[in-house]
Amino acid sequence: MNAIHHGGALGERPYYLPTANEVEVFRAAYKQRLPLMLKGPTGCGKTRFVEHMAHSLGLPLISVACHEDITAADLVGRYLLTGGETVWVDGPLTRAVRQGAICYLDEIVEARADTTVVIHPLADHRRELNIERLGESLRAPDSFMLVVSYNPGYQSVLKDLKQSTRQRMVGIEMGYPPAAKEIEIVMQESGIDQAGATDLVRLANAIRKLDASSLPEVSSTRTLISTARLMKEGLSPRAAATAAMLLPLTDDSEIAHGLGEIIATYLQD
Ligand SMILES: Nc1ncnc2c1ncn2[C@@H]1O[C@H](COP(=O)(O)OP(=O)(O)OP(=O)(O)O)[C@@H](O)[C@H]1O
Ligand SMILES: [Mg+2]
Repeated sequence: MNAIHHGGALGERPYYLPTANEVEVFRAAYKQRLPLMLKGPTGCGKTRFVEHMAHSLGLPLISVACHEDITAADLVGRYLLTGGETVWVDGPLTRAVRQGAICYLDEIVEARADTTVVIHPLADHRRELNIERLGESLRAPDSFMLVVSYNPGYQSVLKDLKQSTRQRMVGIEMGYPPAAKEIEIVMQESGIDQAGATDLVRLANAIRKLDASSLPEVSSTRTLISTARLMKEGLSPRAAATAAMLLPLTDDSEIAHGLGEIIATYLQD
């Protein structure tokens, strides 16, 4: 189980540059106690956005990095055997409900279908978590918020959610930021200069225009930042982009060759 706890109100506010009206939508959804689904490709800022919003709303954030083995019990809790005694241990979702925290089911795409059963009553008007093993039902406090992330391109447990539940959620479409903003983000996150960041964003946008059939995903903001960070360490732009953008994207040598040529037209060796 992979649960990360952040004191949302502690420390510095995570840097997040809004790219559309996502901050307003998040705040409105929170105030109205509506669950939220963030849709968007990998590396476009979903996790960072939630961390930022938790901090700015002063709420604890409990993130669950979902993976294929996650079950409802992993989220809700289970009896564990310690020193000959069985003790109930809350799972991250239960902790979030008890604390009135934001529960972020990150990459819920990976979770198993039985987790939807626990999400249903929490995500609709009941705002209730049924803990079957305890014979208990918890009513979520007003500050509790369920946020799930979702890559519409992948198989997802969200597709198994009933429309009646999905339609009680509020969606935010997150894409790669417009060029001027992405340049600013790359500069801020890596410390490279504007000229360097501009070249990387131009390259990324060229790759993003490629035919979808040749690449299942395109270069994300995250891989641009990784490239910029390698450049900060003295790698040439081309070498950095090959390592951080090209190789993670594909194993197909023909496609890699084509991408290498695009990189060569945008970046210096
Ligand atoms: N609007 C933004 N403001 C600030 N940083 C951003 C923004 N968008 C992306 N980033 C940067 O991109 C990185 C990747 O973003 P993040 O981890 O939030 O992606 P994600 O959408 O959660 O991806 P995944 O679906 O793979 O989990 C962040 O660590 C951050 O450096
Ligand atoms: Mg994420």
